[in-house]
Amino acid sequence: GGKLCLQLTSNCIIQFTRKMKTVVLVLVVFLVLLVEDGLTAGLVRTRRELSPGLHRQGIRDAGGSYCARRGPCCPGREDTCTMPYLDTICYCDLFCNRTASDCCPDFWDHCGVPRPPVYPRIGCLRNGHWYPAESTYRENCNLCTCGLDSHWICEQNVCLINEGIIDAINRGDYGWRAANYSQFWGMTLDEGIRYRLGTTKPSSTVMNMNELHMNMKSNEVLPAYFNAAEKWPGMVHEPLDQGNCAGSWAFSTAAVASDRISIQSMGHMTPALSPQNLISCDRKNQHGCNGGSIDRAWWYLRQRGVVTEECYPFTSLEKDTPHNNRQCMMRSRSTNRGKRQATMPCPNPYAHSNDIYQSTPPYKLSSDEKEVMKEIMENGPVQAIMDVHEDFFVYKSGIYQRTPVSRGKPEQYRRHGTHSVKIIGWGEERQHNGENAKYWIAANSWGRNWGEDGYFRISRGKNECNIETFIIGVWGRVTMEDMRKK
Ligand SMILES: *[C@@H]1O[C@H](CO)[C@@H](O)[C@H](O)[C@H]1NC(C)=O
Ligand SMILES: *[C@@H]1O[C@H](CO)[C@@H](O)[C@H](O)[C@H]1NC(C)=O
Repeated sequence: GGKLCLQLTSNCIIQFTRKMKTVVLVLVVFLVLLVEDGLTAGLVRTRRELSPGLHRQGIRDAGGSYCARRGPCCPGREDTCTMPYLDTICYCDLFCNRTASDCCPDFWDHCGVPRPPVYPRIGCLRNGHWYPAESTYRENCNLCTCGLDSHWICEQNVCLINEGIIDAINRGDYGWRAANYSQFWGMTLDEGIRYRLGTTKPSSTVMNMNELHMNMKSNEVLPAYFNAAEKWPGMVHEPLDQGNCAGSWAFSTAAVASDRISIQSMGHMTPALSPQNLISCDRKNQHGCNGGSIDRAWWYLRQRGVVTEECYPFTSLEKDTPHNNRQCMMRSRSTNRGKRQATMPCPNPYAHSNDIYQSTPPYKLSSDEKEVMKEIMENGPVQAIMDVHEDFFVYKSGIYQRTPVSRGKPEQYRRHGTHSVKIIGWGEERQHNGENAKYWIAANSWGRNWGEDGYFRISRGKNECNIETFIIGVWGRVTMEDMRKK
């Protein structure tokens, strides 16, 4: 009965004894089973049944001789009828036929037993492990899938990080060193070109803009080394990080404008201008994180102006998403004296100010190296358009020039796209071959862990990667009122 027996009534005692009997009976049966088990098979049996099938992944040592070396086959079950097999044991008794998976490879031939039909499990091996069909793994930028023919089938993309290219650059004598970057690992070269650059080549009308010539004497001597960050401490802003947003048009423009406004106001204002403001709000013929043109960016800076990065922080770290790019969260209207004023609060509610910063129209510099140098020295960093080739992504240090390591490879290995950067100075360095190598110092927008603390040096005077083709300077719109700030 299911009731609790609390009083020692006779009925209760009978119930209790009955229950005890059942318990004892169960225990005895259990013990008998246990003993029998132990006597007949011992520990070996447990191990044998737990051991994984030796041949599930195909016979690994098909040519081996095991049962043959052992001698006669064992009839029935004999758990000691084994031979060492690779790092485990295999069996030569007929009992192994039951599972067929732990017989020695030569059991069937040697013992004259018909080999059981094989039902191959479809799957693939990798590093000694077995993976079922349709399993996948990534090999850098390629996805590999276990096919129905038990072979891994991998995509054949060209990866942005390519060990062969890194090695070839570092073995060669190119004047610069290459490194692996975790932020590029797993991306294809195409994705690198598509997501890490983002400046459209200016139209020929823009390219043929009149050049502004520096007032230079033909024998004018410029220093061998110059770095705007050292001449104007605190006014040249650190390299930015565009992430996988193809918005270098906005980053290089914001970077140059920030420095120019700071320098021109003699440090009274040192705004770090917001690339996101340009990405989200300068939409006319612009494509946010899918690329844009620097002339449209400068138009916006002149006509509408942008707020600081603190006010309108960068949020488009990953590719172009409608949410990140479409909605403009800052507008301005003109006030007196041609200045503009924000009509919306900062997207960042904790920002201190939504002041709008503007520039004058940008001007194109001559491609003459000396003139560009003089402009940087007198007025501050400039913006430059450049071609980025496949080997530039892995630049780590030194003076970059395009290497021939991908020459002769199929077309998909030799890709390039248009990028824009900020040049802040120059220098020269004696190479170990005795040659003097001249370089520009430029800020990229691939974060501080890329290159030389976010900067790179690139060969100067040879129009390397077209970096001397289209160089832009600009004035900030700074008033006397601004000069009284701070
Ligand atoms: C071993 O297994 C095969 C297939 O399962 C069977 O045909 C054969 O009779 C078995 N041999 C013995 C000796 O049990
Ligand atoms: C590059 O870096 C990634 C992750 O940071 C690493 O998994 C990979 O093995 C590295 N590749 C080479 C060629 O060093």
